[in-house]
Amino acid sequence: MRAEIAALRSSGGRIALVPTMGFLHDGHLSLVDRARERADHVVMSIFVNPLQFAPDEDFQRYPRDLERDAALVQSRGVDLIFAPPTDEVYTEGEPDVQVVPGALADRLCGAFRPGHFQGVLTIVAKLFNIIQPDVAVFGRKDFQQSVLVRRMVRDLDFPVDIDVAPIVREHDGLAMSSRNAYLSPEDRARATALHVGLDAARSAFAAGERGADTLRGAVTAALNAQDIAPQYVELVDPATLDAVQRAEPGHVLAVAAFVGRTRLIDNMVME
Ligand code: PAJ
Repeated sequence: MRAEIAALRSSGGRIALVPTMGFLHDGHLSLVDRARERADHVVMSIFVNPLQFAPDEDFQRYPRDLERDAALVQSRGVDLIFAPPTDEVYTEGEPDVQVVPGALADRLCGAFRPGHFQGVLTIVAKLFNIIQPDVAVFGRKDFQQSVLVRRMVRDLDFPVDIDVAPIVREHDGLAMSSRNAYLSPEDRARATALHVGLDAARSAFAAGERGADTLRGAVTAALNAQDIAPQYVELVDPATLDAVQRAEPGHVLAVAAFVGRTRLIDNMVME
C-alpha cells in the first residue's frame, strides 16, 4: 500500500481517503464524489474492523461483497481500493496500544456500545498512518463517529483534513446503511419511523418549537406508532454532545433503535 501511495504521490496532487466497511450503497458513493472534489486521487478502504464490534454484535454476519463493491467504485473514480485481510491489519490480534477516546465516546451510541469508538478511532488512526491522506471523508449518518474523528485529529495532531458529508436517504427517507440489508420486508417498512419522527421534529422546530422534550417526543411518538422502542432519542449540542433542554439552530436530534434484530441510527440538524 505504501508503494502504491508513493506512486500516486509522485504523480503529484492531493490524496483523499474514504474509509468504509464495504457492502457499498449510494451513501458511500456520495463520499467518493465528495472526495474527488477535494483531491486528485481517491483511495477507499474496505475493512470490516473486528475491534469496533462487541462479542454479541454482528461482526461475523456483517454483509460482505468485495467483487460487487469493486465494480461499483471503479466507475466512480476510486483510484485504489485498500481491502486488507484482518490478520494483516492486526498481525498480533488485538493491538496493545489503542486510541482511547474521552467523554464524547460515553454519550449516545457509546453508552450502549462500550469500546466501540475506541475500536473505530484505532482503525481510523491506523488507516491514516498507512495511507497518509491529505483529506478523509466521513458521513454525517454516523454523527458521533464524525465528531470523535474530528476530535482525534485535533487532539493528536493528525495532518488530515476531515470532511463530513450529508446523509443519503432511500426514497422513503430511511437513511442508507449496509445494515438495512438485514431488515425483513415488514421491518424495512417500519424502519421509516426513524426518519418520519426526525422530520416531524424538524418541522416543529421550524414552526418555532424549542422544547427538547417536545421535539424528542415527536420522534418517540413516530417510533411507538410502529412498536419500536428507541435506545435513545437525544437533542445534543454537536460540539460537546451534551443534551440540551432548549433547541437552537445547529443542535442535532439523534436516535438509535432496534427494528427487529437490526440496530439503526439516524439524526437531523435543527434548522
Ligand atoms: P461504514 O458503516 O461502512 O461507513 C463508512 C462511511 O460511510 C462512514 O463515514 C459513514 O458515516 C458513511 N455513511 C454510511 N451511510 C451513509 C449515508 N446514508 N449517507 C452518508 N454517509 C454514509 O463507518 C464505518 O463504516 C466504520 O466505522 C469506519 C469509519 C470505516 C471505521 O471502521
